[in-house]
Amino acid sequence: MDYVDKRGPVPLYFQIKTQLLEAIERGQLKPGDRVPSERELTERYGVSRMTVRQALVELESQGYLHRVQGSGTFVNTPKLEQPLVALTSFTEEMYRRGLAPSSQLLSAQQVVPGRRAGQALAIPETEPVVRLERLRLASGQPMAVEVVHMPATLVPGLLDLDLSSSLYTILKERYGFTLNRGMQSLEAVAARSSEAKVLGVKEGTPLLMLERVSRDQYGRQVEYTQSCYRGDRYRFTVELIRDQG
Ligand code: GLP
Repeated sequence: MDYVDKRGPVPLYFQIKTQLLEAIERGQLKPGDRVPSERELTERYGVSRMTVRQALVELESQGYLHRVQGSGTFVNTPKLEQPLVALTSFTEEMYRRGLAPSSQLLSAQQVVPGRRAGQALAIPETEPVVRLERLRLASGQPMAVEVVHMPATLVPGLLDLDLSSSLYTILKERYGFTLNRGMQSLEAVAARSSEAKVLGVKEGTPLLMLERVSRDQYGRQVEYTQSCYRGDRYRFTVELIRDQG
């Protein structure tokens, strides 16, 4: 710590960034701690303020730090890591981490699906679907906005139920669906103003959008969901296995 190699090929800002990151990972800098100011770091490493700023800006844009106007830069709580290949529910993922899941129902209605949802669910564009929009929270913190479409004929009466808890539990207990496989994709999107508002981020902030189509025990497409997770709070992981063929 506190030393940068000024002769080597590794950019100075990158060395400082790496050292700060290591301090966070080792727990020397904990969530909520204030990181040394630009001036302190400039003196400590004997580099320009621009260099220090670049390191801090990158750590901020990658979700490790956040700035509070007038009081400094602080360490964020670590991102939630979630495996991409598991067909789990939001509720299960939160319990697994010891967090309390909750939902706010933003809208619930029966609509016609439109092309994309119709294709994903393999139903005609004119066949009614139930559309739910929910804000998902972990111990009170907004994490994701989810829009789910389900063929209305498969979930009669769903709109009359209490939809503030786990949808997968309702699908299993009330309708007898076991969701046992699906397809999922991940892409980056910018938060639209409505999403930004409920997630508590600025419009345009990067979100990670998971699109999932889940099938039941008979192979029917039961759910098509777009889940937009806060990019500053989530990291998705996948285990890679090399094909030995
Ligand atoms: C995850 C999935 C969604 C699914 C949801 C169900 O968030 N990305 O596709 O609809 O879990 O979660 P729950 O059972 O907690 O409502």
